[in-house]
Amino acid sequence: MTYQVLSNVLPSDQVRGMLGQECQVCVWSPDDAYVASILPSIEGILLYGHLKIDGAFMDMLPGLRVISNTGVGVDHVDLDAARERGIPVGNTPNVLDGAVADMTFALILATARNLVPGVRHAHGPDFHRYEPDFLLGYEVHGTTLGIVGLGNIGRQIARRAGGFGMRVIYHNRKPNPAAEAELGCAYATLPELLRQSDFVSLNVPLTEETTGMMGRDELSQMKRTAFLVNMARGAVVDQEALVDALKARRIAGAALDVTEPEPLPRDHPLLSLENVIVTPHLGSATLQTRRAMKQLAVDNLKAGLAGKPLLHRIA
Ligand code: DGY
Repeated sequence: MTYQVLSNVLPSDQVRGMLGQECQVCVWSPDDAYVASILPSIEGILLYGHLKIDGAFMDMLPGLRVISNTGVGVDHVDLDAARERGIPVGNTPNVLDGAVADMTFALILATARNLVPGVRHAHGPDFHRYEPDFLLGYEVHGTTLGIVGLGNIGRQIARRAGGFGMRVIYHNRKPNPAAEAELGCAYATLPELLRQSDFVSLNVPLTEETTGMMGRDELSQMKRTAFLVNMARGAVVDQEALVDALKARRIAGAALDVTEPEPLPRDHPLLSLENVIVTPHLGSATLQTRRAMKQLAVDNLKAGLAGKPLLHRIA
């Protein structure tokens, strides 16, 4: 039995090995006549990255039986349209929580301790002597971390914060007493969290409710000495307001693993401001985690193709 699968990226040898002989992969290309001719026979979509899959896209694939996303965030897939059409959608939660939490701390430390300008200076021609007052940063240990979105990733971040002796507060739609008891963190309203935190970590999925949730008003409630870390989705932050806050030193700095769009245009102000670090969506980018994500995505795909329940189904 051979299944016809559409992928938005060329599968690596590793992914081809996982897919095996039973999956024949066609790589999506919007203007390719050959790809267009294959669409009626496509039975599954394997996604890596954020190609938009809406109802109109699904309707181009009359034989579609499963959509499998490599990653936890599925804001690029219209889940209601998939439900209406009876197409299961799989994603890959849990396997990436530790890697994303590690990267959150990489960004917290890098931004508070001037890692990027420090590295540039140490590699450059101007490093002649050690200067005691040069590139003084902010401490991380013993500070307050505000986690916006205490889901699986947020909880892993809270665990790591314990090692830094940080006080952790969080904001969710509803308080989570079990997580509070387990992690020793405390619920706060968003304004309280913004007022009290030295580091604000965004870990919410992108939904209608969270789009632009860190706007001008919210940024103005943060401490002047605080840092914003975004590992969620770029559109959670009003980037124009963020640029203004960073320029005016209304907040101390920001570290963004995600932006809107991604990548940013090369002349975007966020790429030239001194007090911001932008990384290229590296949250889950470790050998171990990416392998686990790919395996789960392929397993979800194969289960859907075989008409079995997905290992992890989001819709
Ligand atoms: C995720 O898992 O959602 C990552 O951000 C990759 O898209």
